Amino acid sequence: MWALFIWVSLLVISITHWVYSWRNPKCKGKLPPGSMGLPLLGETIQFFKPNTTSDIPPFIKERVKKYGSIFKTNLVGRTVIVSADPDLSYFVFQQEGRRFQSWYPDTFTNIFGKNNVGSLHGLMYKYLKSMVLTLFGYDGLKKMLPQVELTANKRLELWSNQESVELKDATASMIFDLTAKKLISHDPDKSSENLRANFVAFIQGLISFPFDIPGTAYHKCLKGRENAMRMLRNMLQERRRKPRKNPIDFFDYVIEEIQKEGTILTEEIALDLMFVLLFASFETTSLALTLAIKFLSDDPEVLKRLTEEHETILRNREDADSGLTWEEYKSMTYTFQFINETARLANIVPAIFRKALIDIKYKDFVNDAHRLYDTSRLGGDGLSTSCTFESKKESTANNASKHFMAFGGGMRFCVGTDFTKLQMAVVLHSLVTKYRWVEIKGGNIVRTPGLQFPNGYHVRLHKKIY
Ligand code: HEM
Repeated sequence: MWALFIWVSLLVISITHWVYSWRNPKCKGKLPPGSMGLPLLGETIQFFKPNTTSDIPPFIKERVKKYGSIFKTNLVGRTVIVSADPDLSYFVFQQEGRRFQSWYPDTFTNIFGKNNVGSLHGLMYKYLKSMVLTLFGYDGLKKMLPQVELTANKRLELWSNQESVELKDATASMIFDLTAKKLISHDPDKSSENLRANFVAFIQGLISFPFDIPGTAYHKCLKGRENAMRMLRNMLQERRRKPRKNPIDFFDYVIEEIQKEGTILTEEIALDLMFVLLFASFETTSLALTLAIKFLSDDPEVLKRLTEEHETILRNREDADSGLTWEEYKSMTYTFQFINETARLANIVPAIFRKALIDIKYKDFVNDAHRLYDTSRLGGDGLSTSCTFESKKESTANNASKHFMAFGGGMRFCVGTDFTKLQMAVVLHSLVTKYRWVEIKGGNIVRTPGLQFPNGYHVRLHKKIY
């Protein structure tokens, strides 16, 4: 009887101690206010609760109201400090590699691979980034412009012959085909693999509970990774067996780098890089583009100003049918403001994670600085009016500011920003100069917290008759 009493008492004391330690994580200084939620689960369920707002996510809004713009919580088993404070978020971005370092939850690294560019640091990170910029930097994009325009024109023509087109999927397919061609010469008409299908559910699975059970987004992502990596690995072996004379696509260039004497690049790092790029280059942009078209449908004033900007480009040309020039592209001031405002609101990357490297006030943090669609900002101040590299030859400049971090900031500023802007601007140019559209159905958004269009966004395109 006594033994049972002692055993139960010990159990109760241990559980109480464990719950107390959970609620009060160890820290030499003072942690910001906030709740650690339930033991094990933390506040993960509240974080993932679907919401339909384009405003600040309710999870953040409620806690900012209660605790202030910097608070602690526990998400997917990790204690994190959330910053909705622009000054702190900006400061953390500037401290990359010094006080803070890029860090992502296990689900993210399991899906993207432990050697993905976001998890690498120092020399290897810089080396990978410079490789990516050979494709998505200034010179690469300048070369790509005619191809992007041709692809956009062809697809819009195709869509205009359909009764209804679901824009999220249609834009994803358009962008994937273009980038997969640039990256690995993938041709969907010739390939037996539906490569894009492997990347479905990614946005949902990246930051989720690591439950690898059928039916979860995480499980789907892992399966998708397995298939896509198998394909990339086979392709790598094939190309190493039968090297091509001149590099045709980005993968050829990467393979050349692996084969250089004294290289620091390994096959595994190269494969993870190709995998991340394949995903990042289409899903993000297609979501932003779909949302952009939805915003234009909802705001005729913005549509009118945007159309005017693009019609002026055509009017100022000697030959209205000649393709877009780089100068014309760079002149799309209002379009870049509109794209930035859309990216800010699309909040496609719902959280940016960092780990504190030295003992400072904050341990890990997630950032949230993107909210409310504000048309008054378009054409006004506060937002960048240019594509990123307008004033610099190489695309290392970034136009992140304390109030605009949709593409991140500091050293890890998104390497795909200019590629996204190029594609969005070119599609919008062709769309508003050649077509009108009517909404058929869908267009509502849900954030979990990744952005989704649960019912798609179906529109009917009509050619404009001048
Ligand atoms: C609307 C479109 C996009 C948005 C909103 C977006 C957003 C972001 C953000 C916020 C980061 C910073 C992550 C961090 O600091 O931890 C990032 C990094 C990155 N993005 Fe994008 N991105 C977009 C398009 C693209 C595209 C098209 C590519 C393809 C090339 C791309 C490739 C990357 C890569 C490789 C990184 C990691 C860079 C690093 O760690 O230095 N992104 N992106």
